[in-house]
Amino acid sequence: MKRNIFILTLCVVFVSSSAFGQNLLSLIPNPTNVEQKEGTFILSKETRLLIYDEGAFGKEMAYLQQIMQTIFAQGLSLNEDGSPNAIVIQRSNDSFPTGGYRLDINEKQILLSSSHPEGVFYGIQTLKQLLFSVRHQEKQGPESNLSIPCLSIIDSPAFEWRGLMLDVSRHFFSIEYLKRQVDMLAFYKMNKLHLHLTDDQGWRIEIKKYPELTQQGAWRIFNRQDSACMEIGKTNPDFSLDPRFIISQNGNLLYGGFYSQDELKELIQYALERHVEIVPEIDMPGHMMAAISIFPELSCTGSVGWGNTFSHPLCPCNEATFDFLENILDEVAGLFPSKFIHIGLDEVEKNTWEESDACKNLMKENGFEKVEQLQTYFMNRIQGYLSMKGKEVIAWDEVLEDDINPDVNILFWRDWVGEVPKKAVQSGNRIIFVPSSPLYFSRRDSSLYPIYHLQSKFNEIPKDKQQLIRGAQACIWAEGVPSENAANYLIYPRLLALAEAVWTPDNVRNWDSFKQRLASQLHYLDTEQIKHPALTYALIPLISVDQKGKNIRIKLENEQINPVIYYTTDGSVPTERSHRYNGREIAVSGSAEICAAIYDKGAIQLPLASRTVDYHKAIGKPVTYHIPWHKAYPAGRESALTDGLRGSNRHNDGFWQGFTTDLDVIIDMQESTRIKSLSAMFMQLTGPGIYMPEYVEVSLSEDGIHFEKSFTTYNDVPETERALTIRKFSGEINKKARYVKVFVKNKTGHFMFTDELVIY
Ligand code: ACM
Repeated sequence: MKRNIFILTLCVVFVSSSAFGQNLLSLIPNPTNVEQKEGTFILSKETRLLIYDEGAFGKEMAYLQQIMQTIFAQGLSLNEDGSPNAIVIQRSNDSFPTGGYRLDINEKQILLSSSHPEGVFYGIQTLKQLLFSVRHQEKQGPESNLSIPCLSIIDSPAFEWRGLMLDVSRHFFSIEYLKRQVDMLAFYKMNKLHLHLTDDQGWRIEIKKYPELTQQGAWRIFNRQDSACMEIGKTNPDFSLDPRFIISQNGNLLYGGFYSQDELKELIQYALERHVEIVPEIDMPGHMMAAISIFPELSCTGSVGWGNTFSHPLCPCNEATFDFLENILDEVAGLFPSKFIHIGLDEVEKNTWEESDACKNLMKENGFEKVEQLQTYFMNRIQGYLSMKGKEVIAWDEVLEDDINPDVNILFWRDWVGEVPKKAVQSGNRIIFVPSSPLYFSRRDSSLYPIYHLQSKFNEIPKDKQQLIRGAQACIWAEGVPSENAANYLIYPRLLALAEAVWTPDNVRNWDSFKQRLASQLHYLDTEQIKHPALTYALIPLISVDQKGKNIRIKLENEQINPVIYYTTDGSVPTERSHRYNGREIAVSGSAEICAAIYDKGAIQLPLASRTVDYHKAIGKPVTYHIPWHKAYPAGRESALTDGLRGSNRHNDGFWQGFTTDLDVIIDMQESTRIKSLSAMFMQLTGPGIYMPEYVEVSLSEDGIHFEKSFTTYNDVPETERALTIRKFSGEINKKARYVKVFVKNKTGHFMFTDELVIY
């Protein structure tokens, strides 16, 4: 055995990767360090494969040979030691971070080394991407020689958890499809496939002890969401239900499907060979209707039912619930080698618990004062059981409703609940990020830019707790995703932005470089027949407030490479005679209605981006709240209404502050100030329950005690208006005052949303 051909010293070979024009390589995720060199290595059918330590890397070698088969219709010949043209895989005695590897390509050899199989595997993925890129750029056909540029790469992942969740309950996906996803995940160096295996709409995993769960629970008559998909399917076949999952039974058409344990074993093995861990989720105690329909005695009411928003959960005050779950978890834990089992715990509507005598007794016995403690009790029992089996528990972040033990891994999804990430790490819990915006890929509105810049979310965690971040994953909830094409269309290319966000270190990531490399990877997706949308012409206005320079700054980001952008400041549609955006920030010192668009081939491209910005007198001034904002929509918290940041037409963009009470605040202008006018925008969007106020009333004071009413302005938007409406409430004032009181009457008790109190 020939080992240690060279000694690797990770820390001395630190070369900034941006210095080498590596866009040519089109690697995603971008490696930590790349040094491009003169010359090329010619890969041909004659290239030999040398592997030192076949025992450790045998699977990886077989995988590499599969790739060679696809290129040359044959694997490479082995073991010609000393060959002048070879791929060499060797074990390094230096310890690499998990997943880390080194790839050195010179004119004679491609040398791939790591201390462990995972690193070798990722090195092979890098090589695979290089081969695709060379083949694509040089337009080489199959079986031709490939000229691979000489280079040196040292690489390892920034985060250990790089995942995708697929909801296979709401709509079902075949094992073959899951294997394809595993291949794609591996290609982009992602390593977790979380399967949401059970929910109200279908039970998808065979449990031998309870065969009814799949015999009955895996099948349903078409539900409302199926009908909605079928309607869209009339014009877009990707929304038709997959006919493989429709059966006829007793004259009824049923939709469904499930994975046998043997099929899952095969998938798990396939994924293991690609260093992808399949993480199973059995969602409990809520989202359990598929099981409760068969075993109604397991809910506190003894029947299946819906509460206000969610289905009745399992009853935590009935020992039979734990027997049932432990039997299921025995099989799940035995089947999946992953050390993680996800136990859901999201959206548990607890009123059936509150009303149950058994729960009342249990709460009394345990001294519980609130029903959330029953959820913790439930979680602790399941977690204790699984920990005896050597498993770690993952739960959605509702688990933080009460105190929790630090062994639970928290999947943070409710980004509108401001304190979740901090609260999770304060109690020492590990956290995985899946903020619904932008990582719920089933939502069609999340663009590549915020996914790529996920680091801004990680930054919410204090520095000394950052090591508790395991990583991040995307989620596909499948209610509206009835086919593989529909799923792919949502996943790609967004997954590539996420892959780089969780692999490539912050100081190497670069959005402009990513866009260049993405263009080549989109061709790869096409070659693999992965359906994906084209890059959009949407502009993303990034707004910051410069209090020193007293202006608002707007940067226009987008997915295109070097687009031509025109904008106006009066809200009119830009033409090619409007201002040309030069890539730098636009500074606005008063008020402006920025309207911008990309022009391509002389034609305006939709959508238009428009934003109102105001650098007004109240910016940065303190606001006292007599009634707090609703915790679900804090926006910028106490500075939200005077931070200069306006909301867009998305109610959940993080800039709209929500109130289900009246809004009652006082702005302290910090000195007696001439106030000409005050205005505030309110939103109406009846879907999520957001309505206009009844009126806005403004009063002024010099001493903060005695206020004099200045104006009241009433709403004229009817509650029946269902379309998104944003209305300005404003009044002239023309008086001096230090304090400005704004009182807004909530007529309906539903949400009122406002973004800024603009004072001139
Ligand atoms: C969730 O979206 N209910 C986790």
